[in-house]
Amino acid sequence: MRSFEQPLLAALFLLAHAVQGASLDENFLSTLRSPRPFHARAAPQRNRTCIAPSHGDSSVDDASSILLAIQDCNNGGHVIFAEKLTYTIASPLNLTSLNAVDLDIQGKLSFTDNITYWEKNSFDLIYQNATSFFALGGKDVHVYGAGEIQGNGQAWWDAYPGNKKMKRPVLFAVVGLEGGSVSQFKLRNAPFWHNIVMDSKNIAYSGLDLFSSSNNGNFEKNTDGWDIYRSDNIVIENSTITNGDDCVSFKPNSTNILVQNLYCNGTHGISVGSLGQYSERVDYVENILVRNITMENSSEGARIKVWPDAYSEKSESLTGGGGRGLVRNVTYDGMRLSNVDYGLTITQCYGQDDEEECFKHPSKLNITDVTFRNIRGRSNRVFSPIVGHLVCSSPHTCSGILAENVDIRTINGSNLVTCRNLDTRTLGGLNCTEWSKGYNTA
Ligand SMILES: *[C@@H]1O[C@H](CO)[C@@H](O)[C@H](O)[C@H]1NC(C)=O
Ligand SMILES: *[C@@H]1O[C@H](CO)[C@@H](O)[C@H](O)[C@H]1NC(C)=O
Ligand SMILES: *[C@@H]1O[C@H](CO)[C@@H](O)[C@H](O)[C@H]1NC(C)=O
Ligand SMILES: *[C@@H]1O[C@H](CO)[C@@H](O)[C@H](O)[C@H]1NC(C)=O
Ligand SMILES: *[C@@H]1O[C@H](CO)[C@@H](O)[C@H](O)[C@H]1NC(C)=O
Ligand SMILES: *[C@@H]1O[C@H](CO)[C@@H](O)[C@H](O)[C@H]1NC(C)=O
Ligand SMILES: *[C@@H]1O[C@H](CO)[C@@H](O)[C@H](O)[C@H]1NC(C)=O
Ligand SMILES: *[C@@H]1O[C@H](CO)[C@@H](O)[C@H](O)[C@H]1NC(C)=O
Ligand SMILES: *[C@@H]1O[C@H](CO)[C@@H](O)[C@H](O)[C@H]1NC(C)=O
Ligand SMILES: *[C@@H]1O[C@H](CO)[C@@H](O)[C@H](O)[C@H]1NC(C)=O
Ligand SMILES: *[C@@H]1O[C@H](CO)[C@@H](O)[C@H](O)[C@H]1NC(C)=O
Ligand SMILES: *[C@@H]1O[C@H](CO)[C@@H](O)[C@H](O)[C@H]1NC(C)=O
Repeated sequence: MRSFEQPLLAALFLLAHAVQGASLDENFLSTLRSPRPFHARAAPQRNRTCIAPSHGDSSVDDASSILLAIQDCNNGGHVIFAEKLTYTIASPLNLTSLNAVDLDIQGKLSFTDNITYWEKNSFDLIYQNATSFFALGGKDVHVYGAGEIQGNGQAWWDAYPGNKKMKRPVLFAVVGLEGGSVSQFKLRNAPFWHNIVMDSKNIAYSGLDLFSSSNNGNFEKNTDGWDIYRSDNIVIENSTITNGDDCVSFKPNSTNILVQNLYCNGTHGISVGSLGQYSERVDYVENILVRNITMENSSEGARIKVWPDAYSEKSESLTGGGGRGLVRNVTYDGMRLSNVDYGLTITQCYGQDDEEECFKHPSKLNITDVTFRNIRGRSNRVFSPIVGHLVCSSPHTCSGILAENVDIRTINGSNLVTCRNLDTRTLGGLNCTEWSKGYNTA
């Protein structure tokens, strides 16, 4: 990141408070831009700069002035959220019609925690009752800068135990974006998932720092790092994640995805699914490559979770089962595990407590061509002496499940893996047992 002389910073501070970028000299303004990161460089250079104004008062909503700055610089411009400024956002931002624009987040965007307000006014993303503070879509949009997106999630996590059906906003929602990147900044305290990538293609996420951790006994519930839904050709790389749910999750119709070089801490692993939740739907997850992941303090490492063909209630707000579809060509290559409950998981019994019900009603969602390669490390005591759970709901619902160079051990050295209804000859010497201690319901 570049640094500025003090007078320049002061000038910028004043400008951002008082003046519309449009009236300033472009040569001067262009000196304030952050250099474009790797994934943005291929996109055309921007030829205009706008500075988003902030009222600098946490009781005043900056949303409408942000919208004006973005509209002003849409179609070829560069919008700066100035360093050292905090932007308070107390109403939704419809950013679904962006085209050829860079959003340069040097300062802090802080979303208010007025739950009664946001419950009525956030964007309804429909899938799994997710909502969002803003929706970013269009074409050729690059978001970067050394700043912060602050979700003030604590109030939401505190409210959740008393109202589990409450709709909580995703912190960073990309909806209907074709071509773009998201990189460098911090995402903090997401009320719900940190990122959703929905109805989008050709997007890269890189160098992000996600952290959501509760400061009291109310868990940071459902704070997934990324959920990918109905999206194609997505890269997620070089990022660190501390949260209380999946590090990355491939939801229905995630195709051609690369996830690499992540540090995941306290998560629920990198998960395909859950899939097959809605009986009238067909879900596909295909061509997924996950490599070079460090996974610590997690319930899972590499996981595939699918609902059975029987109505099941996972929780008050998460019910379903019976959906059709296919998981095909998923590779986990390179994962270092430390303090995980299970290192490997396949379940076709997600949401259902009674495993026998799942064997009686095998999943309609097949799993084929899955490779677990170069996965090593330590599991904890939770399911000891078992370190993995590979359980298909019938011999016909899983095929081509491979393991190579997998060495996961509990702290006392055992390496048992529950294997049911799959061909153990391709499991590369995993120490399979019929014995099951069940799977994580998280
Ligand atoms: C600025 O960029 C936009 C989008 O790339 C382009 O359409 C427009 O012609 C450019 N304007 C100038 C003056 O270069
Ligand atoms: C967002 O804006 C677009 C047009 O710019 C409009 O079509 C869409 O309905 C808006 N979405 C919401 C939820 O208001
Ligand atoms: C929260 O928003 C509601 C409107 O939905 C408003 O009546 C209330 O005053 C706001 N509360 C705070 C603390 O700003
Ligand atoms: C991601 O990290 C790898 C390995 O450290 C590095 O080679 C690559 O250039 C990084 N990618 C980006 C876009 O910074
Ligand atoms: C997923 O893709 C399939 C095949 O294109 C389609 O039939 C199905 O409706 C899609 N599912 C969702 C949730 O969009
Ligand atoms: C693996 O990821 C780590 C970050 O977690 C990175 O430092 C390292 O360079 C990556 N290795 C390769 C071969 O890209
Ligand atoms: C891992 O998560 C724990 C619990 O939230 C946190 O205290 C710790 O700082 C995190 N470690 C790193 C390296 O981020
Ligand atoms: C499997 O997925 C990988 C990674 O996305 C892709 O490179 C490869 O071509 C796919 N193979 C098949 C047979 O679809
Ligand atoms: C997370 O993992 C690291 C390394 O294994 C460990 O030092 C740390 O205490 C763990 N944190 C929690 C909250 O378990
Ligand atoms: C979505 O919200 C509705 C209304 O609160 C609730 O009845 C339903 O169970 C929720 N569905 C899911 C999948 O969370
Ligand atoms: C799943 O596999 C079974 C048995 O091989 C096959 O009959 C069925 O058509 C497959 N379903 C899908 C959706 O591929
Ligand atoms: C498999 O697990 C059993 C029970 O822990 C152990 O005695 C045996 O040595 C293990 N076999 C291999 C090949 O690791």
